[in-house]
Amino acid sequence: MGIRLGHKTPPEPLYERVGGMAFFTDLVEAFYVGVQARPVLRAMYPEDLAESKDHLALFLAQYFGGPATYNEVRGHPRLKMRHSPYVIDVEARDLWLSAMLEALDMVDPAPEIRGELAAYLDMAAHQLRNA
Ligand code: HEM
Repeated sequence: MGIRLGHKTPPEPLYERVGGMAFFTDLVEAFYVGVQARPVLRAMYPEDLAESKDHLALFLAQYFGGPATYNEVRGHPRLKMRHSPYVIDVEARDLWLSAMLEALDMVDPAPEIRGELAAYLDMAAHQLRNA
């Protein structure tokens, strides 16, 4: 423990509060169950979902304060650019978001953690609509 100059301990990153990487791999696994159940969404993804799962889990873990593995493997996220090949209209966005919120229900984190995740995912999904 280092010397604390201030009085307040900074909040632990969400990544630590959920117990690390396993939370994100579980969330993403649950999310893709929802993707498989939504044909419009499923059609946008490659047949083999292994890399898609990997990249999404690494991205979310990194975003919420975990290791920077996503950047090491994929480079800067540039999510707008990476989604530009796909037509993301209101329907696709809402399908994505509902699959993600269902996944959150399945992994069932503490309410304040769910709130933080849902707020970010909702905002990000709205930003990525491009049609
Ligand atoms: C709004 C609805 C969205 C749709 C329809 C959508 C769809 C897709 C598709 C088709 C891919 C390419 C397949 C793949 O590599 O996995 C992809 C990649 C990805 N998406 Fe989304 N996405 C959406 C929103 C989001 C949001 C909100 C985030 C982050 C919070 C996100 C994060 C990612 C990441 C990290 C990748 C992999 C990028 C890479 O490294 O290649 N997506 N998405």
